[in-house]
Amino acid sequence: MNMRTYDILLKKRNGKKLTEEEIEFMVNGFVKGDIPDYQMSAFLMAIFFRHLDNEERFYLTKSMLNSGDKVDLSMIEGMKIDKHSTGGVGDKTTLVFAPIIASFGFPVAKMSGRSLGHTGGTIDKLESIPGFRTSLELDEFIGNVKKYNIAIVSQTANLAPADKKIYALRDVTATVDEISLISSSIMSKKLAVSSDLLLLDVKFGSGAFMKKYDDAKVLAEAMVDIAKKFKRNAVAILTSMEQPLGRMVGNSLEVLEAIETLKGNGPDDFTRLCVYLGACALSFVGVGDIEENIDSIKKKISSGEVLKKFEDLVIAQGGDPKVIENPKRILPISKDVYEVKSKVSGYVEKIDAEKIGIASMLLGAGRMKKDDKIDHSVGIELLKKIGDEVKEGDPLVRVYFSSRSDLKSAVELVEKAYSFSDKHISVPSLIGELVY
Ligand code: URA
Repeated sequence: MNMRTYDILLKKRNGKKLTEEEIEFMVNGFVKGDIPDYQMSAFLMAIFFRHLDNEERFYLTKSMLNSGDKVDLSMIEGMKIDKHSTGGVGDKTTLVFAPIIASFGFPVAKMSGRSLGHTGGTIDKLESIPGFRTSLELDEFIGNVKKYNIAIVSQTANLAPADKKIYALRDVTATVDEISLISSSIMSKKLAVSSDLLLLDVKFGSGAFMKKYDDAKVLAEAMVDIAKKFKRNAVAILTSMEQPLGRMVGNSLEVLEAIETLKGNGPDDFTRLCVYLGACALSFVGVGDIEENIDSIKKKISSGEVLKKFEDLVIAQGGDPKVIENPKRILPISKDVYEVKSKVSGYVEKIDAEKIGIASMLLGAGRMKKDDKIDHSVGIELLKKIGDEVKEGDPLVRVYFSSRSDLKSAVELVEKAYSFSDKHISVPSLIGELVY
């Protein structure tokens, strides 16, 4: 029987379950250009209000995944570990997580994204390192992983092209933040790469897609369920984006902070998160339990083995190795600094991570639109975090700006991001449940 787009729209609009063929028909038809934007927009809006069940999500993921290339890592020996974060502010975790995993002898063949909107992207961060190449041919990518257990490259253009086209439409039709659409979008790209374990860092809080913990948990469950239906191993960890992670936001600044962390001098929250994610990943590929792994990761950081893996990565991908010893000299970090001072005395109660992310974007560290150019030298250093005591006139934040920055708007946003209390504030917990 011939399918009609109208009937499928009507069926989902009325809250009925779609078949695999119907979902495939919509995705393939849209990619081929047979289904116009207005019908696909209606389809996405119907999903937004009526949702998809687990099976429909699997079919949607499958159709999008099958629209593009698959990256076969089977020629790399060992259990390949991949990681994905649902997006955050100051989230430079991959720069530390990947070397941790590689230092334990597990290969990390990571394809990462660029920044968009208020969230950063690993590829832009790595490109702050002079000479660092993020577009490698597949042969070189695989070769580096075989040799050093680590390579991080930008996503090839042809991973799940259907998702790319659908995401662009979601972005302009207010249909991004729906759990079925987010989970299938992320998983269509991650499952296209044949890793043996996918660790999903699912963020909740003011800087995350999912502001509420319970919604983030549903998203985590949806993604893990999709992986299971593909017979792939995934574990999700709920982690807080209630305030930016670490103290640095912006490309060069985040690389600087990551290198400090690899040397054992990182901020407490960021270090804890990287170590915990590493410990979970190792335990899910059969190495020790989480507590034991936390100890052994800390030892490897102290011994310099983790930093050595980062150095291997930098050298193998053409970056200036002097960045390891002297990151402040090698990384482009703006010398133009403006300090935002506290207008009150008290304790920091909240730091709206999304506002800090947008402020960083206004400085030039991120992109409003996909093709915007970014400035690696600008960003924000948080001198005070939730729970810290402040006196009126104390510096809260250092803003690194350039002539292209919208400094005034960025500073206004930073000021709005902070709120204070007269009473002691306890630091919100960073790490939530595991979902697997
Ligand atoms: N990241 C994605 O890749 N897709 C989404 O839908 C949301 C975040």
